[in-house]
Amino acid sequence: MPVATASQNASARPRRAIVRWYRTHGRSLPWRDASTTAWQVLVSEVMLGQTPVSRVAPAYLAWIERWPDPETTAAASPADILRMWGRLGYPRRALRLREAAIVITRDHHGTVPTTDDELRALPGVGEYTAAAVRAFAYGQRAVVLDTNVRRVLSRLISGTERPPASLTNSERELATSLLPRTSKSAAEWSVAVMELGALVCTATKPVCSACPVRTDCAWRAADYPASTVAPRRQAWHGTDRQCRGRLMSVLRESSGAVPGALLREAWDDAAQRERCLDSLLDDALVAIVGDDEYALPSS
Ligand code: ADE
Repeated sequence: MPVATASQNASARPRRAIVRWYRTHGRSLPWRDASTTAWQVLVSEVMLGQTPVSRVAPAYLAWIERWPDPETTAAASPADILRMWGRLGYPRRALRLREAAIVITRDHHGTVPTTDDELRALPGVGEYTAAAVRAFAYGQRAVVLDTNVRRVLSRLISGTERPPASLTNSERELATSLLPRTSKSAAEWSVAVMELGALVCTATKPVCSACPVRTDCAWRAADYPASTVAPRRQAWHGTDRQCRGRLMSVLRESSGAVPGALLREAWDDAAQRERCLDSLLDDALVAIVGDDEYALPSS
């Protein structure tokens, strides 16, 4: 029998409790359906990267109905891709997803690759997304560390309310040591712990009374010490992100070229508006199509 690490032995019971909890309390989200393809898992994970589940679910369903695979996505124009991305935010993700579809169609015969190296070579695919595709699409034994998983492990094992601001090697090592040995159990564990973080062990107001591992929780045992790590709050009102969003929304809602005057109407602060328009042009999210005329990129 293979030798288990000390933390594997100590954690087997809470791990089983979390998986059991997931089997009864996990949500049936569209990308968890057994018919979801690897490409569709990738689409869902890219969308979920920076947007809440409640907003992603309808957008994801509409997206995969229109472009179910890499070939159809690769053939879509950037303008259509950005219109369909709509208000999901961080629209560079949409362009990267289309570029990934082009690479998969051209270099991988239309099949999402299965290895970490090949996945991470795709535009817009980083450590988290590659691991999520390996685990959830291909049932591989991969360490899936999103913000929800990091928070659960931080509380349950390390006794701290919040994980460090950015992912550390010691978090990777801890998560690796907790990963069940078989790939099927590892993939189920990953989605289970993620769901516990989304529904129970939430960033604010965790519902500890509903937690299947409350009696194992190091943070609870220490009487919930407040974190020294500042909470991550994304400002919105008046930010460049809001301004870029406004400009993109004007361009999305027009079927063709937009006169500069319409963009000027959309945001009062001229210096901020110009800075944001420049950054949208730099990111190839907007194209200049005439004298003081703008549009979503056509190619
Ligand atoms: N299921 C699989 N991946 C997920 C994610 N990133 N967010 C919510 N549910 C998921």
